[in-house]
Amino acid sequence: MRMVKLGQQGLKVPAVGLGCMGMSDFYGHSDDTESLKLLDEALEIGCNFWDTADMYGPFTNEALLGKALVNRREKVILATKFGIKRGQDGAWLGISGSPEYVKACCDASLKRLNTDYIDLYYQHRLDPEVPIEETIGAMAELVRAGKIRYIGLSEASAKDLEKAHHTHPVSALQTEFSLWSRDVEESILPKARELGIGFVAYSPLGRGFLTGTIKERADLEPGDWRLSTPRFSEEAMAHNQKLVEKVKEIATEKDITPSQVALAWVLAKGDDIATIPGTRRSKYLNLNWATQANILSKNEQAELDAFSRDFKIVGERY
Ligand SMILES: NC(=O)c1ccc[n+]([C@@H]2O[C@H](COP(=O)([O-])OP(=O)(O)OC[C@H]3O[C@@H](n4cnc5c(N)ncnc54)[C@H](OP(=O)(O)O)[C@@H]3O)[C@@H](O)[C@H]2O)c1
Repeated sequence: MRMVKLGQQGLKVPAVGLGCMGMSDFYGHSDDTESLKLLDEALEIGCNFWDTADMYGPFTNEALLGKALVNRREKVILATKFGIKRGQDGAWLGISGSPEYVKACCDASLKRLNTDYIDLYYQHRLDPEVPIEETIGAMAELVRAGKIRYIGLSEASAKDLEKAHHTHPVSALQTEFSLWSRDVEESILPKARELGIGFVAYSPLGRGFLTGTIKERADLEPGDWRLSTPRFSEEAMAHNQKLVEKVKEIATEKDITPSQVALAWVLAKGDDIATIPGTRRSKYLNLNWATQANILSKNEQAELDAFSRDFKIVGERY
């Protein structure tokens, strides 16, 4: 598996990591015993760049990873996030980037994760009420205290990325990027590249849609969060299926899966890009791990580029 250097401070991660969110929240039923088995398997194959957040669960996803880390913490490159406040009952309580909040969140995450350091700590969403320099200043203190190794941001604008990076070097920007979410290519990804900040593409499979396994709303369990999002309305799904057909066409020609086409397209976008497909299943973990950027020829990459650029996606990301 190709390794990606995220930022200039030297954090190296496998290009294909593991998104752990769905093991505890948002995507329907999950089972901790099965998830722990999957995390074992991920480590065995080398897929050791794990992504979580305090708000997944809320809180239970970090606790799950904390169990998986017992006696092998050093084998995992652990990324977590703070900034989206949720109550124990799941209630949404807004966004915070205040220095006190950052430090309290970090201590709480360390406890749940059963560790004394986080490899990559992201601000999940920027707080419009708190200057980014103040939040990053607090994160820099956490670096100095040895509680976190590297700093990341999620869904930041090009302007905020620059301000943050001037306060303390930022190693990674994590933002949605896939064949149906390409807006970062305009100014955000170029800015990250100019500053030497690595990019971590989340939801590279379009939250599952681009794999061809989710064709209609009935394919998702009642209560699945995706059912409440614009791109999973009946109308949007019917329309956006045409993009999936294109992905499937290339997959069939090459005798690989649509998920591998979608993932390879993201990976081929640059050596500075890592991605964290989320799964709860061994079969998908192995398919994703086996996906390399060069599975697609230059012509196939260009064909997908052109098709997805001209295709008008129905439905906002959120
Ligand atoms: N920073 C942020 O704001 C943010 C937002 C969203 C997500 N994330 C992170 O990014 C990670 C990945 O994003 P995501 O989970 O939203 O979307 P994703 O990776 O695009 O898609 C996940 C979905 O695809 C399915 N899947 C995975 N591999 C597959 C394969 N090979 N074939 C068919 N289906 C497959 C999964 O099914 P099963 O679950 O059934 O295996 C799941 O339903 C999350 O786990 C989370 O860590 C970050």
